[in-house]
Amino acid sequence: MRRRSRSGKRLVTVVLTVTLFAVNGPMVVSFASNVIHNYVINTRTYKEKYGHWITLNVATKYKINAVHAALLYTGKVLIVAGSGNNVGNFNAGRFKSVVYNPANNTFKVIHTPSDMFCGGHTYLPDGKLLIAGGTARYEVLADTIKRAAGVMIITDESPNGAPFTLPAGTKLESPTGLMYVTTVAVTVKPATKTIGRHRKVTVTETNVETWVHALKKGKTSDVANLTQFTILGHYPVAARNFFGSTNTINMAQQDFWGSNKSYIFNPATETYQRVSNLNMARWYPSLVGLANGKVLAVSGLGAFGQIINGQTEEYTPATKKWTLTPQLTRVFPTYPALFLLPDENLFFSGSNAGYGSSTIGRTPGIWNLQTNGFTDILGLKDPRDTETSASVLLPPAQAQKYMILGGGGIGQSLKSTARTAIVDLNAKKPHWTPGPNLPEPTRYPNVVILPDNKVLITGGSRYYRGQFNSDILTCHIYNPATNKLSTLASPTVGRNYHSEALLLPDGRIITLGGNPLFGNKADTTPGYFQQEIEIYSPPYLYHGARPAITGGPREIQRGQTVQFTTPNSALIQGARLIAPSAVTHVTNTLQRSIELSVVRKGNSILVTVPSSVGLVPSDWYMLFVTNPAGTPSMAYWVHVD
Ligand code: CU
Repeated sequence: MRRRSRSGKRLVTVVLTVTLFAVNGPMVVSFASNVIHNYVINTRTYKEKYGHWITLNVATKYKINAVHAALLYTGKVLIVAGSGNNVGNFNAGRFKSVVYNPANNTFKVIHTPSDMFCGGHTYLPDGKLLIAGGTARYEVLADTIKRAAGVMIITDESPNGAPFTLPAGTKLESPTGLMYVTTVAVTVKPATKTIGRHRKVTVTETNVETWVHALKKGKTSDVANLTQFTILGHYPVAARNFFGSTNTINMAQQDFWGSNKSYIFNPATETYQRVSNLNMARWYPSLVGLANGKVLAVSGLGAFGQIINGQTEEYTPATKKWTLTPQLTRVFPTYPALFLLPDENLFFSGSNAGYGSSTIGRTPGIWNLQTNGFTDILGLKDPRDTETSASVLLPPAQAQKYMILGGGGIGQSLKSTARTAIVDLNAKKPHWTPGPNLPEPTRYPNVVILPDNKVLITGGSRYYRGQFNSDILTCHIYNPATNKLSTLASPTVGRNYHSEALLLPDGRIITLGGNPLFGNKADTTPGYFQQEIEIYSPPYLYHGARPAITGGPREIQRGQTVQFTTPNSALIQGARLIAPSAVTHVTNTLQRSIELSVVRKGNSILVTVPSSVGLVPSDWYMLFVTNPAGTPSMAYWVHVD
């Protein structure tokens, strides 16, 4: 910080000198100061201290609303927009993904079969990216709604007969004459009948949700308490056993509807492959890879935009199927930040993307996957400001210290926080302790683990979706060893909602996206999705020659000692496996840096991979080595199993 203000002062002196020669007003000063600023940030000494940002030149056909970004084991970045938060794209069925290759700065458009916008994703043990959920319908804002609409539950109490379809357009009538009509078709299954001891018959009704709107415009059709509806028409079930019901239907805003589609992205063929549908449609779900190689889908908004009430499901790679997991039920807000722990349970840091209850399920803690129990972790400052916060497993992963950074109040609350906090899960009784404050309250900070055991923090905005021109154009490094932040060179592009940052295999950091609500400080003009891509080279890339890994196995096992060749053996100080990021909505819970012990041996090093699957889940990793100056090698990709 101190260093930065000194260089700032030097800058002011030079600007004043220029002003003496330029008689014109502030325009000239600003032009001159820009010239000088551009000169300074491009000097070698500046780059050595603060690093350097570049903005990519992207051809129009590859420009994309980057909502999701994932580093593939091929070293390329999959960038997914789907409809990209653009209802015109959604209605036209225009869904987009591109693959960017940072090694030669090329792009490729990828055929995108459905709207993955705001789905969830994580890697499978073989390095393919599993994507589930997304958008089935855009939100409808209250000021455009003319008739009451909402979810109607259709109940079948009869155990007889076969399933049948209740078509869209079916009318329902309440005892007081309110008339509603369904807008989607649903399948109604008969009630289930079980015969127990002493031939006791138990019939369990089936319930299925459908969407209805009022036949009459205006508020007079609102439903405010539990009301039963007669389903008009002729059906294979007696009317007394077959009815609709709802607690509330009105003219409030209708949230996005989730999609139940699921795909695998194959990095080798760069194509999407459809797999079985989710059992529950999900918008803003978190997907978390488990120690057994399965993937758990958690939270999200369901088929009609209601928060999912704790139901989870898991994906089995061998069968490519999603199965409901009723033994694991836990309510979270959307995109809960869930991390796989060495004991194979999950840690919820508190970070989330909102929606659902403002209180239930927001407390950080450990979710025991054997018992479905949850142990709260207390002591977090600003505990109500976890929405739009970021969280990260600090390097090295073995220390099990997690950091939460920034965040804000619920929805469009003007409250945001500069707080960072750390919890040590290796402690006997884990609790949050304060970390250094961010320079200002920050929503949507992007946080990236670096190969030198530090963490980069960049972007974000003070207010919801960058309101009041509140983008934060800064970049800092957090050093877990000293618990201090230091200031780096500044990016030039604002990154708020729907933005991402991730570590590239060459040690640089890519930043993408940004979806401000408004385009000006007064919040009177519409905002546009930020399509500029920036790449940051940290100071460690300006400190002389890089060490190199020149050979070794691609396939390694946990618990094994493995040999890699390097011409720099004597200089290698550290080696670590860094899991690639798959990030959306500031949720980047995959990245982890596992420290490896190093033994130097001739023109090679021997490294030992920890044996815990919860610490080193099966996947592709980037092996980085560093020299005494902290300069990292290029990554050497290895698959750990
Ligand atoms: Cu979103």
